[in-house]
Amino acid sequence: MPDNPREATLRHCVEEVARRLTEANLWFGHGTDNAWDEAVWLVMCAADITISENVIDWQQTLSTAQGCAVTNLANQRITSRQPLAYLVGHAWFAGYRFDVDSRVIVPRSHLGEWIVEQLQPWLDPALVMEALDLCTGSGCIAIALALEFPEATIDATDLSAEALVVANQNVERHGVSDRVHLFEGDLLEPISDRCYNLIVCNPPYVDATTMTTLPDEYQHEPAIAFAGGEDGLAIVRRLLADVEPRLMAGGSLFVEVGAAASQVELAWPTVPFTWLVSDDGDPVIFLLSKEELRLHQHKFTKC
Ligand SMILES: C[S@@+](CC[C@H](N)C(=O)[O-])C[C@H]1O[C@@H](n2cnc3c(N)ncnc32)[C@H](O)[C@@H]1O
Repeated sequence: MPDNPREATLRHCVEEVARRLTEANLWFGHGTDNAWDEAVWLVMCAADITISENVIDWQQTLSTAQGCAVTNLANQRITSRQPLAYLVGHAWFAGYRFDVDSRVIVPRSHLGEWIVEQLQPWLDPALVMEALDLCTGSGCIAIALALEFPEATIDATDLSAEALVVANQNVERHGVSDRVHLFEGDLLEPISDRCYNLIVCNPPYVDATTMTTLPDEYQHEPAIAFAGGEDGLAIVRRLLADVEPRLMAGGSLFVEVGAAASQVELAWPTVPFTWLVSDDGDPVIFLLSKEELRLHQHKFTKC
């Protein structure tokens, strides 16, 4: 902020905050991936500015009170190293707003890039009536699925009772409690013998070495959301061993593995994974049909 905050335009304010965030060497990766975008989000929230029809009036002048609120929030972000989403209490995923706090990982799954496309061209949206979201966290994927597939019913599970409190809050906020059902428990255990056309999962997949070098911002998020065992694939292995009977004929499994994609290829070199490539050009999600899972079942052992 300039010396006289009464003279600060929105643009000036965002530039100043972006400069401070850059100098502070923060980590961006919780809804934004650079200092400018994070500064825009921070200033808009702190100054309580809403964007109408995607038009931003960069020349508008911020009041002294707005300027102080921006400075305070920027100071908090820099000194605490908390993700901005926790400081403002919400995050955006697949175009929808979700309540978040430190009981859940900040939504940023690559699955959002395809959920807004109804997972096309990978499946026929008309066939998705029963879906399952494993490791649901804030419920962002389950709820986005419910909103993009208005005829579908979604079950969602998580081992963390605390996360499910936040997920339930989001289910209520989006008015989908009649179609999104939350279950507490270990992976597939809570859904017993139910079957689905579509199963999605963004599991913990960070390997043990990377767990020790995560940036400060990640230390504020629940470790249970990241820790994927020695090679990152502990949960993925269990899932691949057990999931096939839970898919209906013609059903599909989508699993996000992010940077662990190379480990997946190493672990199962002869399994014909279809890879979904992110906007950044990286293979991040694999897709297997029920039929492929059945054919390669003998390769999926839990240890
Ligand atoms: C990477 S986060 C994904 C959260 C959410 N789906 C998202 O994309 O933002 C992984 C989630 O898996 C949950 N989790 C970890 N181990 C689990 C297990 N064995 N069974 C079910 N959920 C588990 C964590 O509590 C966490 O919410």
